[in-house]
Order: sequence, then structure tokens, then C-alpha cells
Amino acid sequence: MFTARISGELWQHAIYPSPEEGWQIYSSAQDADGKCICTVVAPAQNMCNRDPRSRQLRQLMEKVQNITQSMELLDLRTNRDLQYVRNTESLMKAVDVKLKTASDNPRSLNPRSLQELKDKVTQLLPLLPVLEQYKTDARQISRVREEVRNLSLVLMAIQEEMGAYDYEELRHRVLLLETRLHSCMQKLGCGKLTGVSNPITIRASGSRFGSWMTDTMIPSSDNRVWSMDGYFKGRRVLEYRTLNDFMKGQNFVQHLLPHPWAGTGHVVYNGSLYYNKYQSNIIIKYHFRSRSVLVQRSLSGAGYNNTFPYSWGGSSDIDLMADENGLWAVYTTIPNAGNIVISRLEPQSLEVLQTWDTGFPKRSAGESFMICSTLYVTNSHLAGAKIYFAYYTNSSSYEYTDIPFHNQYSHISMMDYNPRERVLYTWNNGHQVLYNVTLFQVIKTAGD
Ligand SMILES: *[C@@H]1O[C@H](CO)[C@@H](O)[C@H](O)[C@H]1NC(C)=O
Ligand SMILES: *[C@@H]1O[C@H](CO)[C@@H](O)[C@H](O)[C@H]1NC(C)=O
Ligand SMILES: *[C@@H]1O[C@H](CO)[C@@H](O)[C@H](O)[C@H]1NC(C)=O
Ligand SMILES: *[C@@H]1O[C@H](CO)[C@@H](O)[C@H](O)[C@H]1NC(C)=O
Ligand SMILES: *[C@@H]1O[C@H](CO)[C@@H](O)[C@H](O)[C@H]1NC(C)=O
Ligand SMILES: *[C@@H]1O[C@H](CO)[C@@H](O)[C@H](O)[C@H]1NC(C)=O
Repeated sequence: MFTARISGELWQHAIYPSPEEGWQIYSSAQDADGKCICTVVAPAQNMCNRDPRSRQLRQLMEKVQNITQSMELLDLRTNRDLQYVRNTESLMKAVDVKLKTASDNPRSLNPRSLQELKDKVTQLLPLLPVLEQYKTDARQISRVREEVRNLSLVLMAIQEEMGAYDYEELRHRVLLLETRLHSCMQKLGCGKLTGVSNPITIRASGSRFGSWMTDTMIPSSDNRVWSMDGYFKGRRVLEYRTLNDFMKGQNFVQHLLPHPWAGTGHVVYNGSLYYNKYQSNIIIKYHFRSRSVLVQRSLSGAGYNNTFPYSWGGSSDIDLMADENGLWAVYTTIPNAGNIVISRLEPQSLEVLQTWDTGFPKRSAGESFMICSTLYVTNSHLAGAKIYFAYYTNSSSYEYTDIPFHNQYSHISMMDYNPRERVLYTWNNGHQVLYNVTLFQVIKTAGD
């Protein structure tokens, strides 16, 4: 068996400043169980940006994962086949004995025992594909061997380059870098929001209010960008092939929704658009590929039609969003006295799985977004806004926060987190702006 093991510990940038380095595969060894351990060394800095090295790193990581997967598959298959081979062993022995007797004494082979022999051989026929599979596996094993050899060549090159460092320092770095790698692989890394920084204006398009997004499901290789201009009775969704196309306003197709939308709280999750139907508290799941509505369901008790919007109005009563842990609706009801309610939704049926009352008045919130099952609420849609309140669904508790961010164009009508990309998508007065987020995270050691 072959496992890619990644261990880690607390990572905090301020505690461990570390020099610039390249991506590396660091070591490959066997542990006590005979498992192969592969350690990937990531560069300490600029890991999350889109420079070519981080792409190379991702490819390497993918390669390690691919090898792991192939090995696991082989292991599974071998075990299953071995079981089969064991079961057929006695059959083969019996055939063997019969054949021996027959060749020693040809006359003993009467029609009945010939038939018996034929039957036994027929029973053995399924063994052929198993043997064929073994041949394929053998080819796969030699390919995997080559890949491992390639990886260890990279490793050797690195060791030579790093000759100047002593082992302890190297080991220390490996731990840090692994942790960094993990946070970039965006798999386990969940944490508390500590910063919203580096706003990048992607484009200035559309009216003052609107919504734009990419698919929020992990994993997904979908690069499409969707844009929904306006909050009132809109039906036209523009779909761009890539972010670059969106920036240039080129290569797009149009989806005309069968029912108009309200607000800007839409989300794309796993290839479907979830949105609030105009003048209702119905949530619609619209599937882009089939261009059809898969399901619609009323969000029971939820205010709509600009009854309980965010501070900026715009029928923003129902805000749908997705994070690392699935699909959520943020809204309020009359029994909840206008305080923000969070419901976790089942993405196929839109049923409410669980609901939390945050106690925070929705009309005093500028926007809200969910990261790692925590809802973050801004205190205004205007200049000077900050992230003011956090509600932890994991512990049903809240705290007031003070996380500033730069509201460059001074009117935010949409703010949503994309867990896959770890950025905030915002619609700021007709500008489409991305923010980086910094999460303080504790990554548990995996595999031990
Ligand atoms: C924000 O993300 C961009 C790439 O999307 C990256 O180049 C930049 O370094 C990041 N900034 C911070 C402060 O992490
Ligand atoms: C990993 O496997 C996938 C699917 O088989 C393949 O598309 C991809 O190119 C592989 N990646 C690498 C780095 O070998
Ligand atoms: C190993 O490296 C060699 C030389 O770079 C390359 O030709 C070969 O395709 C690699 N093999 C695998 C399985 O990645
Ligand atoms: C809940 O989540 C927050 C943020 O991710 C974390 O800091 C906290 O420790 C978690 N609490 C529990 C009880 O798991
Ligand atoms: C994503 O959608 C596909 C069908 O398009 C479905 O088979 C799959 O279960 C969905 N995954 C999740 C996590 O909803
Ligand atoms: C929604 O609000 C508008 C304006 O206040 C009103 O004219 C309309 O009747 C309302 N519709 C519903 C379905 O509540």
C-alpha cells in the first residue's frame, strides 16, 4: 500500500517567517506497516497565488494522489483476486490429480470422468480474466514504479540543493511547508476569519446592484463565471467560460431563467444555480447544463418581497450561500423578530436540515457570508463597513468581531465566500471585486 501522508501543526504567518523556496517532493520511505510515505514540500510563500510554481506543486500533489489511488486500487483488486484464486486452488488440485491419473493410465478415462474433468475445467474459466487483470496490474505497477523513481530523482536533486541546511532545520521547514500546502489544497483547512484583504477589481460592468460568482462546490474544475445584473425581477444569467473571459466581457452564453429572481443572494453549487423566486420565499434550483428547474421549495416562514432585507434593501431577504460544509440560507421570519436565521439546506431537495437563530437584526446587517460553518456579518453596505459579528453554528454561539475591509466603491450589494478559491466575491457599486481572506487555522495531524 502507498499513502501520501501529510502532517501538520499550527500555522501562523507571524510566528514562522520563512524564506522563499520552490516546490519539492521531499522524501519517500516506508513506515512500520510497510506503507510508503510521501512527503510534499511546498514553498512557504506565495503558495496560494497563481504563479507557475504553485501550479507545478498542485500537479505534483495530484501525481502523488494519483499514485496513491492506483496503489489502493491495485491493493483492493489483488486482495479480491487472491480470495478467488484461493477458492479455485482446490479445484485446480482436483483437476491436476485427475489428469495425472489419466496420463498414467489412459484407459481409466471413461466418458463419465471425462465429463467430470470438463466440468471442473469449465469452473476454472473465470480465472482467465483474473490472470489477464494481473498482467494489466503488472504493467500499472511498473508505471507506478517509474513514477516513484521520477519523484525520488526530484527528491535527490533537492537534497543536493539543500545540502547547506542541517537536518533539523529542514525537518522543521518540511512541517511548516506541509501545513501551508494543506491550507492551499483547501481540503482540511478550516478556521476563523482574521482578515479580508487585497481587493482586486476584476471588472466594472452592470448596474449598481447585482451578483456574480463561480461554482462553490469542492472539488470542482468548473471555471465558469456567472453574472446576474440587478435585484428586481431579473431573468437573464450570463455565463462566461473563464474569469479571463469575464474580465474582457467575451465568450459568454445566456440563460433565461423560467422564473425571475429577487435580491442578489444567489449561489452556484455543483453546476446548479440556487436563487430566490421573485415575490415569494421559494428557492429554485436551476440546473445549467440541462437548462431546467430541478426543484423548488418554499423556505418556511422566511420573509420576502423586501420585508426583511439587508441594510441596502433590494429584496435581499433571502441570501443563499455555500461553504466547505454545504449549502445555507440566511434570512429571517416574523417569529424570529427580524433577527438573522441560518438554515442548512439539503442541496437535492432543498429541505431544511437544521436552523440557528443568531439574534442579530437582519436590517442592521450590510451583507453576510459563511466560512467553515461560521456566519460573518458586516455592519453596513457603505464606506467604513467592517465585519462586525460572527455566529458559530458548531457551538451555537456568537461574538462581536472587528475585521475591517476596504470598501472602495462604497456600495456593496453582494458578498459571498467561495470555499474552493478562498476569496470573497463582491458586487461593489457596479464593480466586481475579489478579496482574499485570511483564516487562522489549526490543522489536525492526519493519519496518526
Ligand atoms: C491575494 O491573492 C492573490 C492571488 O489571488 C495573491 O497574489 C496575493 O499575494 C494575495 N494576498 C495576500 C495578502 O495574501
Ligand atoms: C491524475 O489522474 C487524472 C485522471 O486519471 C489525470 O487526468 C491527471 O492528468 C493525472 N495527473 C497527473 C499529474 O498525472
Ligand atoms: C519519468 O521521467 C521521464 C523523464 O523526464 C519521462 O519521460 C517519463 O514519462 C516519466 N515517467 C512517468 C511515469 O512519469
Ligand atoms: C467552532 O468553529 C470556530 C471557527 O472555525 C472554532 O474556532 C471553534 O473552536 C469551533 N468550536 C467548536 C466547539 O468546535
Ligand atoms: C453533484 O451533481 C451530480 C449530478 O450533476 C450528482 O450526481 C452529485 O451527487 C452532486 N454532488 C453533490 C455533493 O451534491
Ligand atoms: C410586494 O411588494 C410590493 C411593493 O411593496 C407590493 O406592491 C406587492 O403587492 C407585494 N407582493 C407580494 C406578493 O407580497
